[in-house]
Formats: sequence, structure tokens, C-alpha cells
Amino acid sequence: MNKSIYEVIKEDEEYLMQSFKRWYPFVISHGKGAIVYDIEGKEYIDFNAGIGVLALGHGNEKIISAVNEQMRKFFHYSLTDFYYELAVEVAKRLTSFMPYSAKVFYTNSGTESVEAAIKIARGHTGRQWIIGFINSFHGRTLGSLSFTSSKAIQRKSFSPLLPSTYLIPYPDKRNPLCSDNCTETLISFIEDWIFKKIVDPSEVAAFIAEPIQGEGGVIVPPSDFFYKLNNLLKKYGILLIMDEVQTGIGRTGKMFAFEHFNVTPDIVCLAKAIGGGIPLGAVVGRKEIMDLPPGSHANTFGGNPLALAASKVVLEEVPKLLDHVSSTGKKIIEELKDTKSPYLYDVRGMGLLIGAELRKDNKPFYEGLEKVLYNSFKRGVLAIGAGESTIRIEPPLIIDEDLALKGTKIIKEEIEKL
Ligand SMILES: Cc1ncc(COP(=O)(O)O)c(C=O)c1O
Repeated sequence: MNKSIYEVIKEDEEYLMQSFKRWYPFVISHGKGAIVYDIEGKEYIDFNAGIGVLALGHGNEKIISAVNEQMRKFFHYSLTDFYYELAVEVAKRLTSFMPYSAKVFYTNSGTESVEAAIKIARGHTGRQWIIGFINSFHGRTLGSLSFTSSKAIQRKSFSPLLPSTYLIPYPDKRNPLCSDNCTETLISFIEDWIFKKIVDPSEVAAFIAEPIQGEGGVIVPPSDFFYKLNNLLKKYGILLIMDEVQTGIGRTGKMFAFEHFNVTPDIVCLAKAIGGGIPLGAVVGRKEIMDLPPGSHANTFGGNPLALAASKVVLEEVPKLLDHVSSTGKKIIEELKDTKSPYLYDVRGMGLLIGAELRKDNKPFYEGLEKVLYNSFKRGVLAIGAGESTIRIEPPLIIDEDLALKGTKIIKEEIEKL
């Protein structure tokens, strides 16, 4: 203990596989609310929330006491072979947010929720094909990776991935295919090209999509896209899986982002915020679809009681924060839009999932992104990137407005200095 930042990083490089990218040398000591401290005592505004996980911030007292209380009862007792009441209580609460009668399957992470959703869709429909969208992020295990494509490095050297999958363009207004009438163009592309040339719709189990592409750069689709897509899918008995791992549990100002788009997905994948910082994921789906037979799917740790104790608090507290999330998000967006810089190409997002994209000479300005993130870090604000050159702002949902605007002003000034 009491190592310097430099020593921790040096040992990290020596002992941990370096298959992930860090943006700057931040070594956490502890946090409280939306503030974190490094091991040398410096204070930072947290615009990451551990990548969208810590909805109630750091050190939430209600989570601490709920988990403590549960720890005195039992830490673990695999739900797949035994029963406990907490699992039912949290599932009841979670399904109460769904627009239909639903059932839950617990997992430990986002990628595991996506894997489960793939199996549920295939198992229920008896069909094999699943179609996803380019520039999405669904996780890194081989099933979910088959639908992940926000950067080529994520897939490089890991083929072959799942067969009978296909990726189509996301309704992203930056895509030239999609500049005019994006929704209609893509829907007819699916109906007239994908279903007529690639795969008969009777063989398609599901489409999987993020309601807003998070890791891909905070891409918000046109408001009618998912509604129209789902109408098309229903015609052919194809399920819609929405990956709300990042957008779910209040992040966008609604419990689920699909609520913004007037669409009812058949299956929803959750993780990140649902466990309040303790690993937990869940798949929530229509009762009649969640019908994999006994023995066909299970895991040891899914629905861990410590995670569920935390989740119970999260699911009680987050609904009270939704208006605050929407209004604070709008203020951050307004502030960012006022940035005076030729490099700020777009500011977009919903609630507290916000992206500010930098471009130079009409191309992603990656060096600019790195510089803004690094210099903001130096000035006490922690944010990371998304897509090729987008600053991602994703603070704990409890962040107060003044602190959120203080952090935003620092990022804005750093963009202006480019
Ligand atoms: C939309 C989405 N799906 C799935 C995942 C994978 O989650 P995990 O890292 O918990 O496996 C992520 C992670 O960022 C995500 O943003």
C-alpha cells in the first residue's frame, strides 16, 4: 500500500493483460457521490460513473447498509439450484417497469445478458438468424462480439464469430446512406434487400439493437425508427431485443431508453447500473418468450444476493431521479452547444448520456479528443471517449446541477483551446 501513481501503473502493466485502453493515469483511491479521489488525494468530478454503472454515485449509504445486512445473512447460494426471496422481490420490481407481463433471467454482466438473449430468441423461435447493426457495442464474448462492431480492433483476429448473423447500418444521420429519410431508407433496405436477398424472414429469430449507440459515439436514432422497425418485425414473427445495458435504469431520463421511441421490445438486456456497482445483469422479456426449458441455461453467480440487495435500492431510488436526469442533461447539452470551436461537430444525447463529437477537416479528430480528455483530467474532470472522436459525458445520476455544469465548463474550455 501507499504506492505512488507511477508505481501502481508500472505494476499494472507488468501483471495485467493490457488488452484495454486507458485514457489517462487516474488511479482511484475512493469516491463519494459524484466526486472521486486519486491515491495522492487529488479530487475529480466523475463524468464516467465507472462507465455508466454508478447511478447512485460512490459510497451510497443505503446501498452500503443493504449490502451489509445481506452479508450477515448469506453471501451466495446459487439461484440456479435453490430459491431465495430477494431474487423474486427484485424481479417483481424490475418487471413492474415493463409495459407487459415479464420474467427475468439474472446474469453477471452485459455481455452475459446479450448471450442469454441470443439463446432465448433462438430457443423460443426455433430460428437461427439474428441481425444487428454496424457500430453497435454488445460485449466481447464470442456470441455478443458477433454483433459488436464499433471498432474493427474488437473483432480483429477473433473470427469465426457466430454464423447466421448479419449487420446492417444503424440509423445514424452521419452515414451518407441515411442523410435523407433515414427511417424509410433503412426499413425498405431490410424488407427489399435483406429479407429478399440474404435471408428469408421466416428464418430470422431476432434483431438486436441499442436504442442509443453508446460506445459507438452516443448516436441517437430518428424518433420513429424503432417503432417502424418493430412493426415490420412483427409481420414476420421476429423478436426485437433491445440492449439497454448502458441506456437502461434511468440513464436517459426514463427507466428504459426504449420508452423515448414508442416501441416495446420483446427482450431487454440489462447490466451496468442495475447492481449499483456490484456485478449484476438481467434479461427481462415477455413472459411467453422467456420459456427456455429447465437445464438449458443457467449460471452460478447470476442473481448474487449482495448484488440484488444493492439492486433493490437502485430500483427504489432511480425512478425518483428521472426528472433531474433529464433537466441536468439538457443543461449540459446547452452549455456544450455554446462552445466556440471549429472542431465541435455535434452535441447529442439523452438524459445523462451525452456525446460531443470533434472533427477536423471533415474527419474524426482523434488527437483532439485525446487532448481534451487529458487536459480535462489534469483540471479535475474525468470523462472518456466513445466512437472515433466523441467525448462521452456519463456522470452518476445523482450529480447535482452545479457540479455537472462546473465539469462541463472545463471540458468546453478545453475544446475551445484546441
Ligand atoms: C450496450 C452495451 N451492451 C453490452 C455491454 C457489455 O457489458 P459488459 O462490459 O458488462 O460485458 C456494454 C458495455 O459497455 C454496452 O454498453
